[in-house]
Amino acid sequence: MVLTVLTALTNCLCFSLKYSQPSIVKGRTDVVAVTPWLAPIVWEGTFNPVLLDSIYKPKKISIAVTVFAVGKYIMFLKNFLETAEQHFFVGFNVHVYVFTDRPKEVPEVKMADGRQLTVRLVPSSKRWQEISARRMELIQKLIDEQLRKNSDYIFCLDVDSKFHDRWGTESLGGLVAVIHPGYYLDNRSKFPYERRSASKAYVADGEGDFYYCGGAFGGILEEVYLLASTCRFNFEEDAKNGIEAAWQEESHLNRYMWINKPSKVLSPEYLWQDFKARNPEVKTIRFSGVIKNYADIRPNV
Ligand SMILES: *[C@@H]1O[C@H](CO)[C@@H](O)[C@H](O)[C@H]1NC(C)=O
Repeated sequence: MVLTVLTALTNCLCFSLKYSQPSIVKGRTDVVAVTPWLAPIVWEGTFNPVLLDSIYKPKKISIAVTVFAVGKYIMFLKNFLETAEQHFFVGFNVHVYVFTDRPKEVPEVKMADGRQLTVRLVPSSKRWQEISARRMELIQKLIDEQLRKNSDYIFCLDVDSKFHDRWGTESLGGLVAVIHPGYYLDNRSKFPYERRSASKAYVADGEGDFYYCGGAFGGILEEVYLLASTCRFNFEEDAKNGIEAAWQEESHLNRYMWINKPSKVLSPEYLWQDFKARNPEVKTIRFSGVIKNYADIRPNV
């Protein structure tokens, strides 16, 4: 009994924290904050960041981040890394793994204590679809070779994006998906799922929950490992059958999340698009895709 109490105390700093009383009847009414399978949907105003940090701080968690800066995409890396320093898990252990074919062009960015960067070399590729496809394999390998030793959570993020506001402990979960900003007001019949039943990424008409981003996902290592290995397997099966899903790994990820429901869903605050005007329910933009000209950066269109 005494031991249990002691463990409880050292596992959370919240007992010494003063914060406003939580309510189960008052909260945001303009958005839905839980899925029908009872996973939280994280919106500004649904969580207390100070409280959440005080729960995770004593656990000394480590967060790995993968980011792919292949070819000209390296130009986005500096902004990504600098804004991550300002907003992404500030005060926590963060290890960024940069996958690139241009290691000499990785910018020097001053990182706070407990944060570090590792460069992993990848071959150049002629097609961006291939780069995208190989990501799952490289994530799987990274977890196998490195992360089980030193990380608790992993987030896989697009490099052509930057942080504008807090992305922190509220995003932690078993399997974490981000709602795509482009489709969340639409009927699911309009979602750009892979619609050919011959593909392993197939989602039938009248199926699917949300349309999730390929540009940001994460969770605990084992969940992301399963996701990455399944998507990789399905992608390769498709390739053998001469099929490429409509949105490559994003299509496979959407199929995966339909079958394996995420335990936490992040609202479009967690991956907005800079060219898109902000909708009223979006109170803050935490992370967003920067405006880019594909012709300038992709090896093929
Ligand atoms: C979405 O569209 C389908 C097919 O047109 C329709 O049957 C369904 O009721 C719509 N769903 C919503 C939530 O509007």
